[in-house]
Amino acid sequence: MLICRLSNKMSAIVDSQRKMEQKIGFVPTMGALHEGHLSLIRQSKKENDQTICSIFVNPTQFNNPSDFEKYPITIEKDIMALEEAGCDILFLPSVTEIYPSDFKKETYSLGTLETILEGKHRPGHFQGVCQVVDRLLCIISCTNLYLGRKDYQQCMVIRQLIHLRSHPVIVHTCETIREKDGLAMSSRNIRLSPAEREKAVCLVEALRLIQKNIQAGNLTSLIQEATSLLLANGLVVDYVALTNQQLEPLDHWDGHTPVVGLIAASIHDIRLIDNMIVA
Ligand code: PAJ
Repeated sequence: MLICRLSNKMSAIVDSQRKMEQKIGFVPTMGALHEGHLSLIRQSKKENDQTICSIFVNPTQFNNPSDFEKYPITIEKDIMALEEAGCDILFLPSVTEIYPSDFKKETYSLGTLETILEGKHRPGHFQGVCQVVDRLLCIISCTNLYLGRKDYQQCMVIRQLIHLRSHPVIVHTCETIREKDGLAMSSRNIRLSPAEREKAVCLVEALRLIQKNIQAGNLTSLIQEATSLLLANGLVVDYVALTNQQLEPLDHWDGHTPVVGLIAASIHDIRLIDNMIVA
């Protein structure tokens, strides 16, 4: 696997590969790689001639400074995992490679995506995500981009960004990879103590409870039931939401519309999110 740290060099490599009609798959990450990330690499490998992964802990998307400071960094292990998964190129830039001194900060029109759910609870977060993904897609003009459904709203935000900036790329949203007990894999899980790890499983349990009990009609009491399960396990709940696939809230279900359940909750200062198609 080639490790490239410079933006200009990375662009030149991709451009020459594209000239040779090679299909390029790109998986942007912030590292501390787990099976969820690696599933995206494997998917890309199946569908492209070259697979590029980026590892960059993007400071501009952290609305909470301590979350940024404590973000796990396991670069040696990540490189080994990427080698093993058959990744062709790792883009590993520094902050100044991504945000050089002449970098122009844009504001992206994200509409309600920025004011609901993650947007509401993490002000500025999605602007930061757009900033970095926009920059990465300018450097790496890939054919296919691979994202995880684990970050449901982020997938919608990045699709909107690609539309706004007319990046010629096809977006692929891939399934959430889970631990044996159902906990969605996340880089932040490393920070959980064994006792916290046991409690963390209640996010997926709350989603499964909704999936099992959802019925046409008013959904408020079901949301309350799921919230109570999280609170009983000592989590601080940001939201439990039931929406349609466009993330519009559903208070009342017609029994037909596909329903997405989304949860964000913290154990001490470790914030976890999960979602599931519950109907
Ligand atoms: P990160 O959290 O490292 O995630 C990188 C990619 O892996 C995202 O598309 C995410 O949805 C996906 N992913 C994470 N956990 C997953 C799981 N359990 N199953 C499947 N896919 C999973 O998301 C980011 O980084 C950043 O915001 C980024 C897009 C790289 C911009 O900085």
